[in-house]
Amino acid sequence: MKKILSIAGSDCSGGAGIQADIKTITAHKMYGMTVITALTAQNTTGVTGVLPVSKDFVGMQLDSVFTDIVPDVVKIGMVSQKEIIDMIADKLIQYQVKKIVLDPVMISTSGSRLLQEDAMDALINKLMPLATIITPNIPEAECLCGYTVKTKEQMQQAAKDIGKRYHGSILIKGGHLEECSDDLLYSEGTFHWYEQETIKNPNTHGTGCTLSSAIACNMAEGIAIKNCIRNAKNYITGALMANLDLGAGRGPLNHSWNF
Ligand SMILES: Nc1ncnc2c1ncn2[C@@H]1O[C@H](COP(=O)(O)OP(=O)(O)OP(=O)(O)O)[C@@H](O)[C@H]1O
Ligand SMILES: [Mg+2]
Repeated sequence: MKKILSIAGSDCSGGAGIQADIKTITAHKMYGMTVITALTAQNTTGVTGVLPVSKDFVGMQLDSVFTDIVPDVVKIGMVSQKEIIDMIADKLIQYQVKKIVLDPVMISTSGSRLLQEDAMDALINKLMPLATIITPNIPEAECLCGYTVKTKEQMQQAAKDIGKRYHGSILIKGGHLEECSDDLLYSEGTFHWYEQETIKNPNTHGTGCTLSSAIACNMAEGIAIKNCIRNAKNYITGALMANLDLGAGRGPLNHSWNF
C-alpha cells in the first residue's frame, strides 16, 4: 500500500486541510499520515481561530513519521509561520524526501494574506526549492510573479517567470478564472492545459487541498506528472459534480463520490 504524508492544518469542519487530505488519500485506496501544523476553528461560513503547533512539536511529529512508516510522497499545505517552515525544510532534507507536492497556501479564499513577510520568504527560499511541484492558485501566482494575472495568456507568462527562479513543475490552478476552470502545468519548459468548464456549485471548500493530495497519490504510483494532474483534475471535478450541499456557507466536496 502506498503511503502519503500530509503536513497541514486541521479543519474541524472536515472540508479542507488535514481532513480533506485524509479523505482524498483514502478515496485513492492509500494510507494517509498527518503532521499537523495548526488547529483551526472553522466551518463553511469562516475561520474563527487558529492555534499554531510549536515548531518543536512539528519536528517531533516528523521524526515519529520518518523513523517508522516512511511515506512515498509528502504533501504540504498550510504552514503559516517561519519557524515551522524552517523546521519542515530541515527535516525534509534530513530524511532525504524526494517527492514533494507543495500547495503554497498564502491567501485565503476571501483574499486576505495568511502568511507574514518572513514566512513568505522562508516558503519561497527554503521550501519551494525542495518541491517536485508547486500548486499556486491565481492570487498566489500573482504573489510569486509580482503582477496581476487575469487571463490564460497571463497564466502562461506567470508560470514562465516563476519558472526562472524555481526549477520544479508548476501548476497554476484556474479556479479563480472568470470564464472557465482550466489549470496550467508548466513542466520542463513545456505547457500543458487541463480544460474544464466551471461547475455551477458554490460548495468549493477545500478544492485546493483536495487537488494537491490527489496529485500526491498519483505521484506515489510513479505516474508521469502530466498524467498525475489529469487524474487529479478528474477526481476534483467528480467531487464537485457530486453536488454535496452541507452547511450554511461555502460547503465541502464529496470526497467519496467515486466509491
Ligand atoms: N467551480 C469549479 N468548477 C470546476 N473546477 C473548479 C471549480 N472551482 C475550483 N475548481 C478546480 O479545483 C482545483 C482547485 O483550484 P482553486 O483555484 O479553487 O484552488 P485554491 O484557490 O487553492 O482552493 P482553496 O480555496 O481550497 O485554497 C483546480 O483544479 C480548479 O480548476
Ligand atoms: Mg488554496
